[in-house]
Amino acid sequence: PRAELLAGVAGARGLLCLLTDRIDREVLDAAGACGPRSPPRLGRAAPPQPPCLTGPDLKVISTLSVGFDHLALDEIKKRGIRVGYTPEVLTDATAELSVALLLSACRRLPEAAEQVKSSPSVAAGPHTCHSSHSSPGLCPSLLGQAVARRLKPFGVRKFLYTGSGPKPESAAEFGAEFVPLARLAEESDFVVVTCALTPATQGMCNKDFFGKMKKTSVFVNTSRGAVVNQEDLYQALAHGQIAAAGLDVTTPEPLPTDHPLLSLKNCVVLPHIGSATYATRSTMAVLAAKNLLAGLRGEPMPHELSL
Ligand code: DGY
Repeated sequence: PRAELLAGVAGARGLLCLLTDRIDREVLDAAGACGPRSPPRLGRAAPPQPPCLTGPDLKVISTLSVGFDHLALDEIKKRGIRVGYTPEVLTDATAELSVALLLSACRRLPEAAEQVKSSPSVAAGPHTCHSSHSSPGLCPSLLGQAVARRLKPFGVRKFLYTGSGPKPESAAEFGAEFVPLARLAEESDFVVVTCALTPATQGMCNKDFFGKMKKTSVFVNTSRGAVVNQEDLYQALAHGQIAAAGLDVTTPEPLPTDHPLLSLKNCVVLPHIGSATYATRSTMAVLAAKNLLAGLRGEPMPHELSL
């Protein structure tokens, strides 16, 4: 719990956190992370120092995640704290989950499985999403590429991607075409969001975006919930503007059990389990520990975020 984190972090030199821990000014102050202190000049009073408790400064934060939108990076940088994270090692697990969600949403698997339990004599209505185009993600991220690699054998005819600019080297393997966001929405039969949450991507999938998608298209998000305007997604799903959605990430997490999205048959919602395999989480944990120890020793970290 946050109250325990705030109490426990006081005087800590290193912090290992999860993506559910918001590491903001309050936590940094509680840790006693003052940042570089200005030395008093001879014959003058010491300049005002940033507020902090006594105790050794926090030197390193190691997050057990590839995402770092839960970290107040500006504040962390200002205080001279190093940050370790866990990229790459969870790409495969999260890509598998993205494909699983896509197929589940497209073929209405949860609904069909429920139907078998409640009325086994009734067959689920047909719902096969035709596949002509697909987008491997809203940016050619490592995860987007791993998803595309797994989807290619399904016979996808064309991959589209968008982002801040074309990435020809990453796109070459899939013959993927860089397009503006609006064209990606209009032409894709499947949209898989794999981008990081940044000010530029926050709320990017909104009414306008869903309004441009085809009625037969499926939307999948395994990045961060805040990339999507959930009210707009609900309206799009409820009114048949798009066919189905699969979400591993939501705002908040977990979604309250009475949330409108959970009442929809054409929306599959998971509790952020992209990296949740024993092997992946264990590799992430070891990497996070190595990052933390290297940071404490003042050595290069296996994966340090450049701030
Ligand atoms: C991460 O580590 O940031 C991922 O979201 C885990 O699924």
